[in-house]
Amino acid sequence: MLNQAILLEILFLLSLICQLTLAWSPTDSYAPGPISCPAGKSQLTRKANSLSSSEKDWVAKRHAKTKENLLKFLESKTNISSIDYEKLTKTKDINIGLAFSGGGYRAMLSGAGMLSALDNRTKGAFEHGLGGLLESSTYIAGLSGGNWLTGTLAMNNWTSVQDIIDHKNDLWDLQHSIFNPAGTKHILETVEIFSNISSEVDDKKHAGFNISMTDIWARALSRDFFPHQINYGAALTWSGLRSASVFANAEMPFPISVSDGRYPDTKIVTLNSTNFEFNPYEMGSWDPTLNTFVDVKYIGTHLKNGKPVGTNSSSSSKEKCVAGYDNVGFVMGTSSSLFNQFLLQINNSKYKISDNIKKVAVKVLNKLSNEKNDISVVKPNPFYKTTNFQNGNGSSGAIAKDDTLYLVDGGEDGQNVPLSPLIQPKRDLDVVIAFDNSADTKSFPNGESLINTYERQFGPVGIPGSFPYVPDTNTFLANNLTAKPTFFGCDAKNLTSLNNANSNSSVAPLVVYIANRPFTFWSNTSTFKMSYTEKEKTGMISNGFEVASRKNLTLDREWPTCLGCALIRRAEERNNIEQSDACKKCFQEYCWDGKISTGSTTPSTYTLDGMATVNASGNSTKTSSTGAAGFTAEGLDKGKTSNIFGKIVNHFIPHGN
Ligand SMILES: *[C@@H]1O[C@H](CO)[C@@H](O)[C@H](O)[C@H]1NC(C)=O
Ligand SMILES: *[C@@H]1O[C@H](CO)[C@@H](O)[C@H](O)[C@H]1NC(C)=O
Ligand SMILES: *[C@@H]1O[C@H](CO)[C@@H](O)[C@H](O)[C@H]1NC(C)=O
Ligand SMILES: *[C@@H]1O[C@H](CO)[C@@H](O)[C@H](O)[C@H]1NC(C)=O
Ligand SMILES: *[C@@H]1O[C@H](CO)[C@@H](O)[C@H](O)[C@H]1NC(C)=O
Ligand SMILES: *[C@@H]1O[C@H](CO)[C@@H](O)[C@H](O)[C@H]1NC(C)=O
Ligand SMILES: *[C@@H]1O[C@H](CO)[C@@H](O)[C@H](O)[C@H]1NC(C)=O
Ligand SMILES: *[C@@H]1O[C@H](CO)[C@@H](O)[C@H](O)[C@H]1NC(C)=O
Ligand SMILES: *[C@@H]1O[C@H](CO)[C@@H](O)[C@H](O)[C@H]1NC(C)=O
Ligand SMILES: *[C@@H]1O[C@H](CO)[C@@H](O)[C@H](O)[C@H]1NC(C)=O
Ligand SMILES: *[C@@H]1O[C@H](CO)[C@@H](O)[C@H](O)[C@H]1NC(C)=O
Ligand SMILES: *[C@@H]1O[C@H](CO)[C@@H](O)[C@H](O)[C@H]1NC(C)=O
Repeated sequence: MLNQAILLEILFLLSLICQLTLAWSPTDSYAPGPISCPAGKSQLTRKANSLSSSEKDWVAKRHAKTKENLLKFLESKTNISSIDYEKLTKTKDINIGLAFSGGGYRAMLSGAGMLSALDNRTKGAFEHGLGGLLESSTYIAGLSGGNWLTGTLAMNNWTSVQDIIDHKNDLWDLQHSIFNPAGTKHILETVEIFSNISSEVDDKKHAGFNISMTDIWARALSRDFFPHQINYGAALTWSGLRSASVFANAEMPFPISVSDGRYPDTKIVTLNSTNFEFNPYEMGSWDPTLNTFVDVKYIGTHLKNGKPVGTNSSSSSKEKCVAGYDNVGFVMGTSSSLFNQFLLQINNSKYKISDNIKKVAVKVLNKLSNEKNDISVVKPNPFYKTTNFQNGNGSSGAIAKDDTLYLVDGGEDGQNVPLSPLIQPKRDLDVVIAFDNSADTKSFPNGESLINTYERQFGPVGIPGSFPYVPDTNTFLANNLTAKPTFFGCDAKNLTSLNNANSNSSVAPLVVYIANRPFTFWSNTSTFKMSYTEKEKTGMISNGFEVASRKNLTLDREWPTCLGCALIRRAEERNNIEQSDACKKCFQEYCWDGKISTGSTTPSTYTLDGMATVNASGNSTKTSSTGAAGFTAEGLDKGKTSNIFGKIVNHFIPHGN
């Protein structure tokens, strides 16, 4: 839960933005800079009516690998005997996507454990997990904390979670809060770090770009995620992945980062807001409200309907383009840019913020909000004057009209699991595994994110038929759909009623839902818990492994087989192959049966062989110890810290505002 101490730390960070005039010699590192426009390409945007040719080529390369790996997985980890794999994959390869939800470091660490259970490089993943499945997957989407996970791995040579646990690198040193990186004892060092961050961000400003809170956030996060890169990845770009051999050779899944668009002159983000994605080739949206992608390497370029226009008439035409705007920290920071929520929620009584602090906070936050500094500002807007948008909600065209693009945390629209890129009919996925580490009920998930994605398909910006039926949150909890993995859309035939006359003819992917749950560690830590001891970190990661592996297969030895049945299901349906008896049995065990719970809204009891015990009143005896109570600032002397940060914040408060 957000508490006063953390709010003060955040305010400290926020208020630094008001101080960004401490300029000194620009290093040109974080600053985007001019480059030649790509030869023979005068149009840098395109209509979102297909995959980009780069992605198409890449996917073909990846499928050559996943096809082999999936066969190995099915042969070695499942006893789906006698499947005719050649026949299954004759018309089309099996296309698997993974989605990792947001939720701060909780989502990053729990997600890391889940991912590691699929990764054959993890010790034990082959023996008592799902080792080989990561190697069989084509896409990996991350949002906010989930994107910190996928981005960290992707941009560090696709390193493994095992190597992070084994300290083969210094990634994820989370002992100190990101807002207080050197610890309270070394307040001067903390100030120096933020002073360095300030000057890095200043570089961008002095190069002529608008900056926002997200730039500071980006540089602070990069110190955790890119400790080995030159100057913490100040010059590392998302599009730079194209030239990394691990990506170029398709030895990792295709990473996608998700954020939400906020319409100009609005403050809130709803389910109808435009969903954006950053992939190594492109940035943009499939939604009808934009329906456009831009070459992500060149965001930062002044474009008018996708054509570079330049800003400086005397500069040579070769330098009309700009690169470096897609800094990886900026992309990861954008996906997790939820500072605008503080102002929207500051009066929420659950945060127990004192009136005095609130007064100060509202002042700072209002200033930031009025200057649009509490979100991610992309200016120039790469989609300025684009014309591909179609009818959608009333805001169609609003994004293309504005010279600035506003982006926020991808979970702010209620879809905390980044499913939008994976349910696009053009990507044609067979299966999506949705790893949910949201904090819905007692900081555990309750299916809400899936429900929102389900509902969005029928709204003005959705694609009917793109997502299977799911029940309400009460059923998720009461029928144990968050307690063990659950399959949705098991029977494609039953999904035809989702489609209306004028929609897509493709079939929604089968969705495997895997929700955070405590097995050996109270993994429902607060989203605002900003520091983890080594023990907490490994506890979260092991627990995530256990969630994905059904407690290391002890709860069900057939779990890999059953998951295998889900992976091949659409291919069987496509090719009219009868499901095996073993798989039929599995589907009875793991598919949602279409039933809605009519019982009371009794929350989940965290049993089904999880570690919680439940007392007579139905309360879990342990949920509030290290868990839901949330932020226990390791190493922070709360009373004193508040005072120090309070003083700093006071010092930085803009006068007369
Ligand atoms: C499950 O396996 C993981 C990875 O091998 C390990 O870290 C964890 O301790 C195991 N958990 C149990 C309960 O055995
Ligand atoms: C995973 O590792 C095991 C044991 O080393 C091996 O038998 C299996 O083929 C590997 N799976 C994949 C997909 O590479
Ligand atoms: C990336 O990792 C691979 C092994 O997975 C290694 O062979 C290669 O040298 C690494 N590349 C860099 C640049 O560190
Ligand atoms: C701040 O930046 C300077 C110059 O690049 C560097 O020498 C110093 O170590 C940095 N300080 C910290 C705390 O990172
Ligand atoms: C961008 O910077 C210009 C010049 O400093 C300022 O007028 C404008 O309000 C800024 N826009 C945003 C969205 O911050
Ligand atoms: C989405 O748009 C539809 C139609 O304009 C509207 O009925 C609905 O209330 C909107 N939903 C949200 C969450 O704004
Ligand atoms: C325009 O470009 C020229 C040459 O690149 C440069 O000297 C000049 O400072 C630029 N002017 C502005 C206003 O950016
Ligand atoms: C919160 O309360 C303050 C007064 O205490 C008020 O000025 C502010 O507008 C409120 N904010 C919201 C989002 O309701
Ligand atoms: C898988 O094989 C084991 C024996 O090797 C058997 O006990 C089990 O029932 C089989 N599972 C299925 C789903 O057929
Ligand atoms: C099957 O389709 C009906 C609507 O025709 C829907 O209500 C039901 O939930 C679906 N069942 C499953 C298991 O998805
Ligand atoms: C959910 O799991 C509990 C055990 O943890 C079990 O008692 C209960 O019957 C299950 N509910 C359903 C609907 O399967
Ligand atoms: C159960 O927990 C809730 C908060 O989660 C608390 O309000 C309530 O008093 C608890 N009930 C008992 C009997 O402990």
